[in-house]
Amino acid sequence: MAAVLSSSTGAFALTRTKILLAISLAVTWWFASVLPHYRPTIEAKFKARLGEALQKIPSIKVDWDTASDDPRDAYNASKVALMIEARPLPHLVPQILHMISVVPPDWRFLFIGSEESVVTVGRAFATKNQQVIGKLDLMVLPKPWEIDNKENVFRLLTDIRFYQEFLPGVEWILKYESDSILCANSQTSLNEWLDWSWVGAPKTPDDRFSGNGGLSLRRVSAIKRVLSFQARFNDSEPEDEWFGKRVYILPGAKVAAGVDQALAVEDVYFDNAMGYHVRNGGRELAESVWADREQRRKIFGYCPELSLIMDMKLEKERCPDPPPSSYPGAGYAVPTPSPP
Ligand SMILES: *[C@@H]1O[C@H](CO)[C@@H](O)[C@H](O)[C@H]1NC(C)=O
Ligand SMILES: *[C@@H]1O[C@H](CO)[C@@H](O)[C@H](O)[C@H]1NC(C)=O
Repeated sequence: MAAVLSSSTGAFALTRTKILLAISLAVTWWFASVLPHYRPTIEAKFKARLGEALQKIPSIKVDWDTASDDPRDAYNASKVALMIEARPLPHLVPQILHMISVVPPDWRFLFIGSEESVVTVGRAFATKNQQVIGKLDLMVLPKPWEIDNKENVFRLLTDIRFYQEFLPGVEWILKYESDSILCANSQTSLNEWLDWSWVGAPKTPDDRFSGNGGLSLRRVSAIKRVLSFQARFNDSEPEDEWFGKRVYILPGAKVAAGVDQALAVEDVYFDNAMGYHVRNGGRELAESVWADREQRRKIFGYCPELSLIMDMKLEKERCPDPPPSSYPGAGYAVPTPSPP
């Protein structure tokens, strides 16, 4: 009898706890719905735009020696490594952290994304740290800017207002994409390229403009000069090709040509590149770079970070030597190191 009594008391207690829990949840939700109304208003229109776009530094406690200092001041405000990516890809966090470790320390990093991709990048503890020390900013552009497809990103990058509103004071942009990477084994520093107006990857070995933009360094002053007298037609060529034709003929501009002055490997292989751009994570590989097994071995030996951004299979899963074009990606697995 006692056992029955106590168990019914237990059931009653549980129900009361449930009710209390429901009430406290309702109160919490009510608070949450009230809170967003307390947004501070910023007078300057320009600041409001930038502030609207910048994501808040997450709440990690740090003791700054001089509390009023902006941690961003520790870096050179004119140099920004920029990625624009709307898809919440799982490799964005390790890729950005790798790029932060190979780009010279005075550069800042800006990630422009969708709500989803910004959350993906921002929720990792390691990227939160980079935000707190002022190295990395995450941004969702306010309307009417869109980055949901390539054409909209081309429009953004060929609109002078983008540079004025969101990149004030920036002169050098390292533009990289979810499928490009700098190699830690490169002996060249990005800062050695600062007097160039535009450097990227060549399309042919003797390309007169090595400007493929998936991994490229651009000077904003040259971009603004082009945009001050030219406008890109919507739904026309990609932004890097469009800029290429115009920066190339700009008086005084210094643009890369051929493989000797290229920054990255994309369609043309050369030794000791600073980095690689593998279009669509390796689903659109250039045969002249990737088809040869020995060259692949060399590439992955020099730039093992490529495995971060490429779709891969283990070497032992691989079918015996498939022709590269019939099963792209499958043939390009990381080579197993040969025993000494
Ligand atoms: C930023 O870098 C550029 C190029 O290296 C240099 O000319 C400039 O003085 C630097 N600015 C600051 C504030 O250090
Ligand atoms: C190009 O598209 C943008 C919207 O992204 C629009 O505002 C603009 O008017 C279009 N330009 C032309 C010439 O149609």
